[in-house]
Amino acid sequence: MKMFKTLSTAVAAASVAALTLATPAIAKNFKIAVGDSGGSSQEATGLGFVKALEELSGGKHTATLFLNGQLGSEQDTVNEAAIGTLDMSLLAINNITPFSPTVGVFTLPYVILSLEDAETLTQGPIGQELTENTINDAGVRIIAWTYTGFRVLTNSKKPVKSVADLEGLVIRVPKNEIMIDTYKSWGISPTPMAWSETFAGLQTKVVDGQDNPYTTINAMKFYEVQKYVTNIRYIFSIEPLIISEQVFQGLSEEDQNIVLEAGKAATQASATFLREKEAEIKQILIDQGMEISDPENNEQEFIDLATAAVWPKFYESIGGIEKLNAVLAAIGRDPVSE
Ligand code: MLT
Repeated sequence: MKMFKTLSTAVAAASVAALTLATPAIAKNFKIAVGDSGGSSQEATGLGFVKALEELSGGKHTATLFLNGQLGSEQDTVNEAAIGTLDMSLLAINNITPFSPTVGVFTLPYVILSLEDAETLTQGPIGQELTENTINDAGVRIIAWTYTGFRVLTNSKKPVKSVADLEGLVIRVPKNEIMIDTYKSWGISPTPMAWSETFAGLQTKVVDGQDNPYTTINAMKFYEVQKYVTNIRYIFSIEPLIISEQVFQGLSEEDQNIVLEAGKAATQASATFLREKEAEIKQILIDQGMEISDPENNEQEFIDLATAAVWPKFYESIGGIEKLNAVLAAIGRDPVSE
């Protein structure tokens, strides 16, 4: 009897395998929500993904980008992907942190100091570990990394060169505790606001300023509503392409590999875009009338206040001080102690 059962299970498994082999995988058109507009770093990653996906699948699969928050706020798209009603989303990592706190290590102020640091961290074991954490915590898998550049401060009211100059400014931040606390360490209480509402918030002067990289400021045409830029460089913005884990698990192994390989190509497309375009885009902002300045004393006051107040507060949520030290070691920086 036992033997019969085993045999019938084996036969069933063989028929499923035969059926799987005989059934061609279904062509997919992945829907990708993109928080930013055309011309952005996010779009460069998205286009890199679409191109590689089509090439690697021999034209069987494609993907469509829905730019400029058409499919909802960046944080909402994480929920949608988690439940499988959205395939993919391209969004800033700070908008994933509320769902998977360990990725907050990439949002801690003044941890990542260059594009090369960002590449080392995201493409190495730390990036792999954070990818696994987002699957477990948030039901989404990171398949590509966008390198958008340093988040610089913009505002419509006055030049900002020192921490004291921030006084009186209402600054929009994402709904992200680390970023809120960073501004608090500089003496002001920022206004958390969804990315999809930010342009209108700046235009109607509900808020005076915000921070994002040059490429984002340009793509979103913030120069129409902002005048002053301060290169505070406190966060190097990393903006992953995520896929719904449910959708990913529904793909054949071959298609999963195609998606992962296309993700790697998209990451490279993003790095190339930043290296080739950032200086040109900074000049466009100047030509559009923005005044760009550096903070006094190499930003030291901003750095000291933020690292002293914010790093220790988030050790626990990022997985302990040892996680921060692993990140610092990976980019050749000295460890911190309690
Ligand atoms: C934000 O400020 O919420 C994000 O950085 C926006 C973006 O994805 O560019």
